[in-house]
Amino acid sequence: MPQHIAIIMDGNGRWAVRRGLPRTAGHRAGIEALRSVVEGCIEHGVRYLTVFAFSTENWRRPKSEVDALMGLLVEYFDREIVRLCREGVRVRIIGEREGLTEAVREAIESAEDRTRCNERLDLIVAFNYGSRAEICRAARTVAALASKGELDPETVDEANFGSYLYTAGIPDPDLLIRPSGEMRLSNFLLWQCAYSEFWFTSVYWPDFTKAHLAEAIAEYRRRARRYGGLGAAPGG
Ligand code: IPE
Ligand code: IPE
Ligand code: MG
Repeated sequence: MPQHIAIIMDGNGRWAVRRGLPRTAGHRAGIEALRSVVEGCIEHGVRYLTVFAFSTENWRRPKSEVDALMGLLVEYFDREIVRLCREGVRVRIIGEREGLTEAVREAIESAEDRTRCNERLDLIVAFNYGSRAEICRAARTVAALASKGELDPETVDEANFGSYLYTAGIPDPDLLIRPSGEMRLSNFLLWQCAYSEFWFTSVYWPDFTKAHLAEAIAEYRRRARRYGGLGAAPGG
């Protein structure tokens, strides 16, 4: 079983346009898909689910769409927090908090605080997240510590560099899922996905169901993960 699944929730806009609806209707429908995938992950015993909800590059979209996405995040936590608590979900947000409005920051902090003790599933929401920005931020921290004499550059290795990333303490994703037919990472978890298995589907995110999740997991279990070695049984 994958311990950690990461999903690029893509295709909301095209889903809506295909139905003659505004793009924001697609983002709203995407929330329903997230709800059922959270449930599905719990049913499969997945321990971590990371979802890409807003990238640092998504600021390039029209202000009206950006505002709608910000509003939807606040609304999602407002509406879902009780259910998430009941399901034993711990919410964590990764990404740059600077640049977000007070309302969005408060929603994030309150969701994290209220679910801090839950242990069934960690729902990690990548919001205002960009992987290169994350790596640069970590490099700045390391450089600052080294220049103050608090860190010996010689001791920087893969394990401890990871502890300066937003994902410190979270195991790397085993399985990365991208719906909507796109086959690229779009600046998502570049460091963390070094050895993740990828699974793509042309289904748009709002149409993504527990059955698609089960299909991705089944395919994952057939894969042989070798990490550069010669490997053993598939799905290991
Ligand atoms: C993903 O759906 C959600 C965000 C990027 C915020 P899109 O809005 O990218 O949908 P498409 O790719 O345009 O269909
Ligand atoms: C990636 O999707 C970001 C999120 C799903 C939040 P995009 O739709 O922004 O990615 P590109 O622009 O197609 O690469
Ligand atoms: Mg997209």
